[in-house]
Amino acid sequence: MADTLWWQHGIVYHVYPRSFQDSNGDGVGDLEGIRRRLDYLVELGVDAVWISPFYPSPMADFGYDVADFCGVDPLFGTLDDFDRLLAAAHRRGLKLILDFVPNHSSDRHPWFEESRASRDNPRRDWYIWRDPAPGGGPPNNWLANFGGSAWTLDEPTGQYYYHAFLPQQPDLNWRNPQVRAAMCDVLRFWLDRGVDGFRVDVIWHLMKDPQFRDNPPNPGWHPGLPGIDRLLQIHSADHPDVHDVVAQLRGVIEEYPRDRVLIGEIYLPVERLVAYYGEELEGAHLPFNFQLIFAAWNAAEIARIVIDYEAELPAGGWPNWVLSNHDQKRIATRVGVAGARVAAMLLLTLRGTPTMYYGSEIGLKDVPIPPELVQDPREKNEPGLGLGRDPARTPMPWDGSANAGFTTGRPWLPLNRDWRRRNVAALAADPRSILTLYRRLIALRRRRAALQVGDYVHAHVEGDLYAYERRRGGERLFVGLNFGHEEQTLTLPDDAPRGRLCLSTHLDREGEAIERSARLRPAEGVVVELARGGAQ
Ligand code: GLC
Repeated sequence: MADTLWWQHGIVYHVYPRSFQDSNGDGVGDLEGIRRRLDYLVELGVDAVWISPFYPSPMADFGYDVADFCGVDPLFGTLDDFDRLLAAAHRRGLKLILDFVPNHSSDRHPWFEESRASRDNPRRDWYIWRDPAPGGGPPNNWLANFGGSAWTLDEPTGQYYYHAFLPQQPDLNWRNPQVRAAMCDVLRFWLDRGVDGFRVDVIWHLMKDPQFRDNPPNPGWHPGLPGIDRLLQIHSADHPDVHDVVAQLRGVIEEYPRDRVLIGEIYLPVERLVAYYGEELEGAHLPFNFQLIFAAWNAAEIARIVIDYEAELPAGGWPNWVLSNHDQKRIATRVGVAGARVAAMLLLTLRGTPTMYYGSEIGLKDVPIPPELVQDPREKNEPGLGLGRDPARTPMPWDGSANAGFTTGRPWLPLNRDWRRRNVAALAADPRSILTLYRRLIALRRRRAALQVGDYVHAHVEGDLYAYERRRGGERLFVGLNFGHEEQTLTLPDDAPRGRLCLSTHLDREGEAIERSARLRPAEGVVVELARGGAQ
């Protein structure tokens, strides 16, 4: 695509490094393991790999508690391993996106150790310290995302520090210019090594209300929901000042060749989400669009989400779509294995950059984790509410050999019970498998500019059927998705009533000529190439 950049027409593949491929037998994946699997990603047809954090970390939050922003944890390898991985990726034409975690560091980061050493330490203001409330206790009512108060008292200095997540993850003070400068240098450190962009962790959290006003109660909260939802996060996140910070991060990206990408992790309603593009598109290139993760899985709701998002996007803002990630339920768990095939077609035919989470392509489901094997601090802090993220982070099953080829040791989380059947090698050999479907979908997308970068044209929703068109110049691809359990009739547009079926999620009717309409079986999706000029 001459007139678009790779992060616009390409596909991002998200790797959780602990679980992709182990190369040294310790049961935890590593950078060398990822390097050894790059050819798989090339064959799959994706364009870029985003790797969750691999920096030195005490692993209180499995790497999202960073003790050195410019290094590699020995568990994952060395900086040399990283350089080798980057070079190997680039040799294969793959881009590499790192996870940048600017909102907080580990409490073991030397900056925080200095900051907590005394009230007059030069780094005191690098974190968020407040006196106790007048009557004692935390400075305000803000809650931590992983349970409990967001404030922890540091007894020796008599002040509380703020942490939006675990006490081991103190928030950096982004109102301090030295913090900003230091973190911009972190970006430069990795950009100088040659990385192609960043996914920025909880970017909407970076600025908080400078007056630290209490958050209001959430009238919708009830027991069974996470503790954090007791309050509406009005003052603790998404402060208007955050957009300056995002623009500053973008400014660093702009110091480098034009094709580096800035992706922001943002859980907000769509009208607030799109503000992260920046008024003049000086913000994130791709504020992650998580709406499909929370969508009620039916045709009307999904069509509504797509139409509203298309309408809310600022002029020139590039869309993107995500079905799942390392914090959420896997898509096959949410919508079933048949539904996951329709979801794949949706993700890969909507307008915008798709992000795939490792394992989706083999229909991997959440793996139940017995209590004694729970790793995730979120589950440990608030057990039994279904908040734990371990089930969606289990090792990638590669083949039928011991431990599914993931490790020669003991995997850090259990494999999917059906790994002997559900693994990459087995599904790659099956011409009707979900993996084959993903490969075919990706290949089709790569061949058709209309799918990669064409316009989205809404067609119709009828019961369980959602139909839309992707169009570029004379190229018109018509997508029909049956979200239901009954047959549906897909009607082609009046101005292009004939076409050829390029792909069905069932992988059994390619090439079929379509006149006016086609029957779609339950949970079947199809892509039909419409004949040009209405004739064929
Ligand atoms: C993001 C990450 C999540 C992590 C949290 C705190 O939401 O995706 O895994 O626990 O930030 O860094």
